[in-house]
Amino acid sequence: MNEPNPPRPASALDRRSFLAVTATGALAAAAAPALRAAAAAVPTAPAVARAPAPFELPALPYADNALDPVISAQTISFHYGKHHRAYLDNMNKMVAGSDLEKATLEQVVAAAAAGGADKSALFNNAAQAWNHTFYWNSLTPGGGGKPEGELLAKLEASFGSFDKWKEEFAAAAKTQFGSGWAWLVQDGAALKVVKTANAETPLTKGMKPLLTLDVWEHAYYLDWQNRRPDYVAAAIDKLLNWKFAAANLAKA
Ligand SMILES: [Fe+2]
Repeated sequence: MNEPNPPRPASALDRRSFLAVTATGALAAAAAPALRAAAAAVPTAPAVARAPAPFELPALPYADNALDPVISAQTISFHYGKHHRAYLDNMNKMVAGSDLEKATLEQVVAAAAAGGADKSALFNNAAQAWNHTFYWNSLTPGGGGKPEGELLAKLEASFGSFDKWKEEFAAAAKTQFGSGWAWLVQDGAALKVVKTANAETPLTKGMKPLLTLDVWEHAYYLDWQNRRPDYVAAAIDKLLNWKFAAANLAKA
């Protein structure tokens, strides 16, 4: 991971989204009951997954040193190259030969969530695979600042002001006890800040994720050690990808 990854073509995520949406429609008509239920549960989820099996690790949308100094290339090498890859590899082993083998990642997450304790290992790995791809896209070099247009208006309507939103998001990220995530989501007409523990994701709670920040220690410890609040503040001010959030908001 010392060599920077080539920037991913701008159309790659759109192409994956198209494939995932297309697959959702095709599978909903013919798949097993668990899969049909999963497809129905996530009709508007942001699709960050793939073409059919095996699931592949999506390319980073930037070079591995592009988020430095907030997130170093060394952190990326472990977080993306080891942790994210391991979630994906584990999930691939679990879905191999099952009726989920050709599902989209969103469908696997939904089916595993519906499967309860028996599917907890599959849920943990599939949800983490989805959460991490969403996280990489929630960050961008030269990010931060302030959103525009409809997204800014909705933030101001839901939180009072953009600064109030920043305070609430930072508080969620700082106070999530142990491992987890802070999210900006759309829940009905309102935008909300929520936090989830471990692999939990708003995808399975009827909310549309717009942005996320990973607050597992593996996301920041090499760069910030125990100073999670400093990582959170720097990521909000310098890395948040508001164009990605606006695109997610605009999806039906
Ligand atoms: Fe992570």
